[in-house]
Amino acid sequence: MILSQTINSGLRKIPTWTIYIVGGAWVVWMFYLAATNQMGPEPINALEREYGELGLKLIVLGLAVTPLRRWTGLNLMKFRRAIGVTAFFVVLAHFLVWALLDVGTFGRMWTEIVKRPYVTVGMASFIMLIPLAVTSNNLSIRKLGGATWRKLHKLTYPIALCAVVHYLWLVKGFQIEPFVYLGIVILLLALRQSGFKWPTGTFKPRAIKGAASE
Ligand code: HEM
Repeated sequence: MILSQTINSGLRKIPTWTIYIVGGAWVVWMFYLAATNQMGPEPINALEREYGELGLKLIVLGLAVTPLRRWTGLNLMKFRRAIGVTAFFVVLAHFLVWALLDVGTFGRMWTEIVKRPYVTVGMASFIMLIPLAVTSNNLSIRKLGGATWRKLHKLTYPIALCAVVHYLWLVKGFQIEPFVYLGIVILLLALRQSGFKWPTGTFKPRAIKGAASE
């Protein structure tokens, strides 16, 4: 049985709500480490960065679900909504740490959002995430209709691009990580826009003749 089939059969047994549990537990655990000074000399910044990085990772993973299935056969489709909604709550935690613990007052929040371009673009990404989180349920799909819902959820691309630019803009000196994220998001966007169709199973190892097919 090829690797993706083995993983898929394991994934089928995992309920989607585990993503929410694991994501929520991680957010609480990181907060506990920061609150008990186990995150180095600047726990608030460290917490902001931890939440920001996981938020970005989940946004990019959400984008990669369809190509991953097409290219490798790895099927994370049933987790896509949970990944997206968890990404929203992790970014919300990121924003709240910044607003309540780092900046602290509404006045300063506004000044930072207006004055610092990396915060402005982060805010744009966060604001675009809100309607996606709110409509990540079957009721909204029925109310909006599939076509409108899919159009709205295309916002995932500007969200990912803004989040990567936010990261690129804030890092000091040269760091490879933001460029890796940028490369992945641009690749996914370019392939999607080009309507490029990978012959399915491109990276799926050929089933051995006579081996059980999926
Ligand atoms: C989708 C939305 C967002 C994503 C994915 C995101 C992601 C990130 C990432 C990856 C980092 C860098 C972590 C590192 O240095 O290792 C970061 C840092 C930061 N973000 Fe965001 N962010 C988002 C929205 C926001 C918003 C809305 C704000 C505030 C309005 C914000 C404020 C900050 C600040 C102040 C830092 C710097 C932390 C530091 O190094 O001290 N971010 N963010």
